[in-house]
Amino acid sequence: MKPVVLVTRKLPEAVEERLRRDYSPILNPTDALYSSEDIINKAKGVDAILPCHTEKFSADIINRLPDSVRVIANFSVGYDHVDTEAAKARGLIVTNTPEVLSDATAEVTIMLMLGAARRAGEGEKLVRSREWKDWSPSFMVGTQMTGKRLGIVGFGRVGQVVAQRAHNGFDMQIHYHNRNRVTQEKEAGAIYHPTLKGMMPHCDFLALHCVASPETTGLLNAELIDLLPDGAIVVNASRGIVVDDEALIAALKSGKLFAAGLDVFNNEPDINPDYRKLTNVFLMPHIGSATSETRDAMGFRALDNLDAVFSGSEPGDRVA
Ligand code: DGY
Repeated sequence: MKPVVLVTRKLPEAVEERLRRDYSPILNPTDALYSSEDIINKAKGVDAILPCHTEKFSADIINRLPDSVRVIANFSVGYDHVDTEAAKARGLIVTNTPEVLSDATAEVTIMLMLGAARRAGEGEKLVRSREWKDWSPSFMVGTQMTGKRLGIVGFGRVGQVVAQRAHNGFDMQIHYHNRNRVTQEKEAGAIYHPTLKGMMPHCDFLALHCVASPETTGLLNAELIDLLPDGAIVVNASRGIVVDDEALIAALKSGKLFAAGLDVFNNEPDINPDYRKLTNVFLMPHIGSATSETRDAMGFRALDNLDAVFSGSEPGDRVA
């Protein structure tokens, strides 16, 4: 008997094909977001759940899942939507999909940096709305990225790829803060700062790539923003929760920050409405991993993890 897998969202065709070949999948043909109650009901008799970060697995939900469920194999690298302590307490295996989305997310980070620095959102809107009337030396002047200093918060896989791209492609000087200093090879010339406060004054650009956790909730607050050089640019392609929205919006309004580029938000898609009113914020709808290559790879990685569990071995990407 093939293990039964509840799949909460529509996945790439090649991934669903492999699911149909190796498992008895319960697919979501419409891609509609399931509520927690839907998931609990649909999980009756299933062996595994393959969710995205859009489905929350709080302790309460985990404790209400049927006993048949052995594993939650996430289609995401982030797993802040799953209460891993509750999962561990129940003996539920949880996996994620690291590495395969580092390039795609780094690309979006660079896009956010360029979009914010070169006012891409404003420019695009002007052309589309036919409000673009003229060219002049003072028209749509932004700030250059090449040769500037980039501070990276969280120097894991994505942070390291961003550092490479920014350094090799834009000649940027890389600074980073991480819980632990990484090896010299991984640093590749980046300058380590043991404290976040110590790094802030060195960042013309600041990119957030830390894991969302209780410790990083609201990490980028008014105090830290104040330590950045005037006119700095902040970008976030990690999780919205690491930013104190009120503080960031205040700094964008006052001109303390030149601009921000955001792909992730608190309470997305119902984001703080002030962001929409600001012209100096470049907004994207959580597309960090949204390339066909990456989405296939994420699905295959989740399936590799399921294959390991159901063949009795340890999944490569176990996080609980
Ligand atoms: C991730 O993998 O964590 C991305 O944010 C998409 O969920």
